[in-house]
Amino acid sequence: MRPGILVTVAFAALSWAAPVTEEKRATPPLPSTDSFYSVPDNIASYAPGAIINHRAPPSPISAFGIDPVNIAASWQILYRTTDNLGNATATILTVLVPVNADFDKLLSYQVAEDAPNINCAPSYALQLESATGGTLGTALTQAELLLAEAALYQGWVVVLPDHEGPNGAYLANRLAGYATLDGIRAALQSTSLTGISIDAKVGLWGYSGGALASAWATVLQPEYAPELTGTLVGAAFGGTVPNIYNVITTINKTPSAGIIAAGMVGLAKQYPVMATGLEDHVLPEYQADFEAVLNQCFVPDLSLFNNADVINMIDNPNLWNDPVVLEIFANNSLEYAPAPPAGLPLFVYKAVKDEVSPIADTDDLITAYCAAGTTVEYIRDQSSTHGGLSLIGAPMALAWLIDRMNGKAASTVCSTATKYSMLLDIATLEVLPTFLLDALKALLGGEVGPTFFG
Ligand SMILES: *[C@@H]1O[C@H](CO)[C@@H](O)[C@H](O)[C@H]1NC(C)=O
Ligand SMILES: *[C@@H]1O[C@H](CO)[C@@H](O)[C@H](O)[C@H]1NC(C)=O
Repeated sequence: MRPGILVTVAFAALSWAAPVTEEKRATPPLPSTDSFYSVPDNIASYAPGAIINHRAPPSPISAFGIDPVNIAASWQILYRTTDNLGNATATILTVLVPVNADFDKLLSYQVAEDAPNINCAPSYALQLESATGGTLGTALTQAELLLAEAALYQGWVVVLPDHEGPNGAYLANRLAGYATLDGIRAALQSTSLTGISIDAKVGLWGYSGGALASAWATVLQPEYAPELTGTLVGAAFGGTVPNIYNVITTINKTPSAGIIAAGMVGLAKQYPVMATGLEDHVLPEYQADFEAVLNQCFVPDLSLFNNADVINMIDNPNLWNDPVVLEIFANNSLEYAPAPPAGLPLFVYKAVKDEVSPIADTDDLITAYCAAGTTVEYIRDQSSTHGGLSLIGAPMALAWLIDRMNGKAASTVCSTATKYSMLLDIATLEVLPTFLLDALKALLGGEVGPTFFG
């Protein structure tokens, strides 16, 4: 095992035990205090995907001490996108260019940030010396960098959008989809800066919270970004979360219960009615916990609400059946959205025993997609948990993306396969260099808990 991996694992382990105190670090500046993140007043005058500003990251991208991949260049780009209510806004794209890059191949990787706080955004968390412990707890994003690195190792340019937008609107999933599509537009317009070909082939990849952004991008693409038809060659996503309401009832009183509070607070950033509902109905003794979620990241959120009965932290349990609240959940649930376009092949992977989002919801979603004409290769993994499959399923997803990027035609019919473990698939052994396989195994063996990725 190489030192970089050890550091990643150590960060992940540390963040579980980290004290809840604000990190005091000078560099890089937190997004909440960094004017580069500000949405310009005249934002509506920019076209979706337009580049507003750019810079080199204030601190180097971290975790790339793991050779043989070396990064040749990295950028942060502020670009115009659209929020959940259709209003113009802006967010940040991180661009990673490997040595010997193939500028005709671009991967948009959506991380599972899963926290309603702009200071947890990947543009910040991926930098060396960003605060990884304490209240920030961005170690998960840093571990996901390992998967982005596997893509860089293929020579692809990798972009990572801050898909929760400038306020960290977690679960505002239309925003996540728009931000992903506009990040791709910005990347394709950045040739003079980054070298990315204007007509590069583009793949999408993400897990759990990152799958939400990736899947919503495919759903919204025909109407919002029709010019990307044919440019998007495939989307791979796992740990899918088709129905928000079903997740809430599944994870309450479990180690993942903190996601409920994070999600409600995230939605409140786009829906004033949700904000009022939380102010009026969260019981006084839990108000501070709900507010804490605004200022920390995913790992501390899980610790704070570990096994808690979050549903009953609200004085009026009927809030969970309020028609407006249910409509907000439905409007942000894939189950009630159209199927992705027929010409964009999907690779979807899901743990049969997924303890965050029941597999039945994903089975139903894929059935509906196939009935609508979308082509899906759907893999059900019997041995993994939600968190474990984020890593175990990654090599096979990457192998599928490699075929799409290389122009190999995807199957034209839907298929479903149930496997004991995706890690044992032959494709896995063919695509990953040994050091990355070792790194994945090390992460899986580390004391990182079942909900390592949310
Ligand atoms: C955003 O959109 C909503 C609904 O169209 C509108 O009521 C609101 O004023 C807009 N907010 C801003 C800041 O433009
Ligand atoms: C849900 O989406 C529909 C259709 O876009 C919209 O008319 C409605 O206002 C949305 N509901 C909420 C609560 O935002």
